[in-house]
Amino acid sequence: MTSEIKISKVKESKVTQVDLDNVTMGFNFTDHMFVCDYTNGEWQNPRIEALNLIPTHPAAMALHYGQAIFEGMKATKGQDGTPLLFRPDQNAKRLNFSADRMGMPQFPEDLFVEALKQFTAIEKDWIPTKEGSALYLRPFMYADEPFIGMRAATSYKFIILGSPAGPFFSKKIKLFAENKYVRAVNGGTGEAKAAGNYAAAIRPTEYAKAKGYDQVLWLDAQDFEYIQEVGTMNIFFKIEGKFITPDLSGSILAGITRMSVIDLLRDKGFEVTERPIKLTEIKEASANGTLEEAFGVGTAVGIAMIEEIGNDDFTLKLPAENPVSNMVNDTLNAIKVQKAEDKFGWIVEA
Ligand code: COI
Repeated sequence: MTSEIKISKVKESKVTQVDLDNVTMGFNFTDHMFVCDYTNGEWQNPRIEALNLIPTHPAAMALHYGQAIFEGMKATKGQDGTPLLFRPDQNAKRLNFSADRMGMPQFPEDLFVEALKQFTAIEKDWIPTKEGSALYLRPFMYADEPFIGMRAATSYKFIILGSPAGPFFSKKIKLFAENKYVRAVNGGTGEAKAAGNYAAAIRPTEYAKAKGYDQVLWLDAQDFEYIQEVGTMNIFFKIEGKFITPDLSGSILAGITRMSVIDLLRDKGFEVTERPIKLTEIKEASANGTLEEAFGVGTAVGIAMIEEIGNDDFTLKLPAENPVSNMVNDTLNAIKVQKAEDKFGWIVEA
């Protein structure tokens, strides 16, 4: 296929209608979208055009069999106003990992990154610059072939949308340790960023919210004993000066913020271990005063400090101070706007 991206820009941007200093992620969308079609075994016609509705056949296979995957990433502006991306190559790889698991075609990784660069450059006026804000980018792929029957679709769309985003959580969060529903099992789709994983989380998350919690803390599907991940993020604990996070055991999403935080913590001299973590270990550390910090990490949320973990059987109050997680949060945010040195080479100019 040709990787030249055809560009049709809108005549007038709607950005003036949006207060970028006070936006909530997911409600406003930028002027354009990137679209690419998969037909006859190849990706065709990559283009950036006005954001618009997409005609969809009611038998489109994504609607029936759930072949739908997505990515999440954020664009920021450097100190001189240059639009920047954070590790887009990693999102390209993870999209293709998800595609493979869901029987969907691979998307060329160089085109993925190039499309993001060109899209972000065109939408640069939509990038909020207030601290903790960014332009959230949503690349996604779904099966649009009209067919009733159980097999991989033969036609797909890959699209990128942009949505200006303020901070996801404005306060510390409370997690409901889910002890009835599960998110994923080894061998299932938990490692893929598949739309269905999030669909299955909606009802449990609603129950958790009704009880006063912000998100669900997922435990392992076998015994409800080991901590896996949180609704929209991975999780870290600091016990006696050392960090632990659940290892990628086969049902946990390999977060790009997760891997970046591990690198940052190690670079700051902290020990970080990826290993199975029992909920009872966290309860004990909380009881004997050795649990020092806990936080969630994800693209949309950034770094979210946790103040409480509980369910109908127990409540853990976490320490009020989060000095190291605050430092990691500040460092990551500073790298993303080129206020701190990008010593890992994570930043890509759009
Ligand atoms: C992200 O962090 O980018 C996500 O995909 C979470 C999303 C469901 C809000």
